[in-house]
Amino acid sequence: MPNSNPPDPIEPKKNKPRLTTWDKLPPADQRPGDGRVIDWGARSGRERGLLRRVEKLALLFKEPINKLVGTSQLNPLYYSDTIAFFMLVVVVITGVYVLMFYQYGYDISYTSVESMERFIVSRAARAIHRYASGGLMIFSILHAIRMFFMDRFRGPRWLGWAAGVISVAWLWLAGITGYWLPWDLGAQLITDGFVNLLNTAPALATGFYFQFMDASVAGQNGWLLMLLLVVIHVGLTVIAGVFYWLHIKRLQRPKFFPPRYWIIGMGALLVIAGVAFPAGMLPPANFNIMPGTTPLDPIFLFYLPPSLRSVPAAVWISLIVLAVTALVTVIPWLFPRPKLKPVTITAERCTGCTHCVLDCPYTALSMAPRSDGMPFAELAVVDPKLCVSCGICIGSCDTMAISLGENQPELLWQDIAARLDIAKTHNRPVKLVFTCERHAAHNTHTYAKSSEPAHNEDAVAEVVPVTCVAMVNPGLMTHALDAGAAEVQVVGCPPNDCTNREGNIWTAERLERVRAPKLKPRFKDAPIFTTWLAPDHFTDALPIHRAENKADEQHAPTSLSQVMAMFSRRNLIVAAVILAVGLLLQVRLTYTPFTPYQNGQAGINVAVRQAAAAPVELTVDGAPVLAATSANVLQPVAVTAGAHQIRLTAAGQPLFDETITINQGTVLHLAFDQTKEE
Ligand code: HEM
Ligand code: SF4
Ligand code: SF4
Repeated sequence: MPNSNPPDPIEPKKNKPRLTTWDKLPPADQRPGDGRVIDWGARSGRERGLLRRVEKLALLFKEPINKLVGTSQLNPLYYSDTIAFFMLVVVVITGVYVLMFYQYGYDISYTSVESMERFIVSRAARAIHRYASGGLMIFSILHAIRMFFMDRFRGPRWLGWAAGVISVAWLWLAGITGYWLPWDLGAQLITDGFVNLLNTAPALATGFYFQFMDASVAGQNGWLLMLLLVVIHVGLTVIAGVFYWLHIKRLQRPKFFPPRYWIIGMGALLVIAGVAFPAGMLPPANFNIMPGTTPLDPIFLFYLPPSLRSVPAAVWISLIVLAVTALVTVIPWLFPRPKLKPVTITAERCTGCTHCVLDCPYTALSMAPRSDGMPFAELAVVDPKLCVSCGICIGSCDTMAISLGENQPELLWQDIAARLDIAKTHNRPVKLVFTCERHAAHNTHTYAKSSEPAHNEDAVAEVVPVTCVAMVNPGLMTHALDAGAAEVQVVGCPPNDCTNREGNIWTAERLERVRAPKLKPRFKDAPIFTTWLAPDHFTDALPIHRAENKADEQHAPTSLSQVMAMFSRRNLIVAAVILAVGLLLQVRLTYTPFTPYQNGQAGINVAVRQAAAAPVELTVDGAPVLAATSANVLQPVAVTAGAHQIRLTAAGQPLFDETITINQGTVLHLAFDQTKEE
């Protein structure tokens, strides 16, 4: 009797399917297909024009530093992301430390900060907190520019971009509240600017005035405002932290810290700057005087000069800052990504080896249980919303299960085979060069879409642009050698400069045989070599031969002996000098003198709060200088120093009527809260 039990549909078949690998593809002369030549570096042409121009500009700054320090690994511009994070950590640690000494109240806050200045550790911590905050802003902006020209801002990367901008916006606000805390002349100017902005809703402005500023003028304690400011200062930093988490959420293995030699170098310089250039004390806030020339930090307080000028100017500068922030946040949608092609998985070819999941620098791939009868437990699945189309996983997959959009991996081999055929007609050795779309973008006219080989003295170079060099499986490289290429060169980005974060490291490690898919042992000494250099130096790479391949290592040194072995003492000293000069310039910038009010001026500050709208009038020496009909009036009036007959009326009732001398640089406060009296 035949077996009546149907086979279990999820029981895996025992016999393994025969799957083709890169190095088993049909030889060039038997290749199938229609001979199409596909531009794998799909975004290499005109589409990247703007980014290329911005990058060229950035390279104008990067290159001289590279030349001076001898390697990109000692150039801070390549580490702006992780240096910014290091600065953030320094800011948090020093912030928690100085907060332990801080006390709450107008005078008390000032004197508690003043007493910090008496002890070297708290004094240095305060200064380091200040310089690291400024450094955080500077490196964040450099990092954002870099993310832009590297094309790391659009497609699924929009979240990283937008959350980064918003995080920096909160950090900027946190910095402003930080400068408010010592309750010194700087804090006074910040308060004045803030009140100007509040004055768009006069009820808010007079409310703030009578709650806090009047109390300061009257010499009251003011613990509430100072406590509020600390809570806001810390709260804004925490909110920035939440956005930072969103910022790196889509990254696999985000790198937070720069290599250790950077932490030691930057940390030491910050400590030296903190000890050598203490923040010092400005005079205490005093709303009875008009501050003269005051050193202010334009990194955080650039908005103050216009916002002190008038209420409309304060509103304008706030609107401009808001508009610029909004505009920068939506950059991913202003320059949408062309030809987005997430990868697709051919299930019948997937052996569940997990190499692609391990290699994906984003969080786009995962392994899922499979029930399709294949003798493998798991299957790779892609989330197209998270795939940035870098193509790295195509190079991870030995069995060619991954396609870039509709482009099957075999097409890459067909393209190479076609190019080799053409190049061989020159009757010279053919050097096959794989490069990424970023390099190709800088050399579009010469190489990217050309099937004409580029010549050098003794070989013909055939350039194959791919999205990322890690898209090229080692098996494909050796297959090209077997098919007649005399040598294979991979030209990619220097350490910490890969658009796809890890493509250059994975390529180096696969070829060094320390990461799967490894170069086969028999090709250990084959003419396959790597050159890591800046994208606009692509052409310099072509005449380089294996023997003279002195490209940067992809691996950051960690121990001191490795640092000394990799970088010469001269390189290290020059890098330290460049950093020190940069920090010195930043320290100078932090204390930029600013003169908020004209010398020789004096002022009257009118603050009137009434139960209902009624006319408020101020005359100076009989001349009307202020006339408003409102329940809430808060307005500074400039007068010349000297004796003046001053009369203030509200609803026709005189509130003040005296001849009084107002000295140069002082302010007469005429504050009347009529709601309290009624
Ligand atoms: C103007 C604000 C910022 C923008 C526009 C921005 C943009 C980006 C983008 C788009 C990425 C993801 C890159 C990718 O997907 O390949 C990224 C990564 C990163 N950002 Fe930012 N960022 C900003 C602020 C910051 C700040 C304030 C910090 C540090 C406190 C920071 C540190 C980092 C780090 C450490 C990474 C991960 C680097 C890696 O592992 O590859 N960024 N940034
Ligand atoms: S192309 Fe592959 S490696 Fe790159 S993001 Fe998409 S799934 Fe990840
Ligand atoms: S690399 Fe990924 S897609 Fe290829 S076989 Fe392994 S798990 Fe499957």
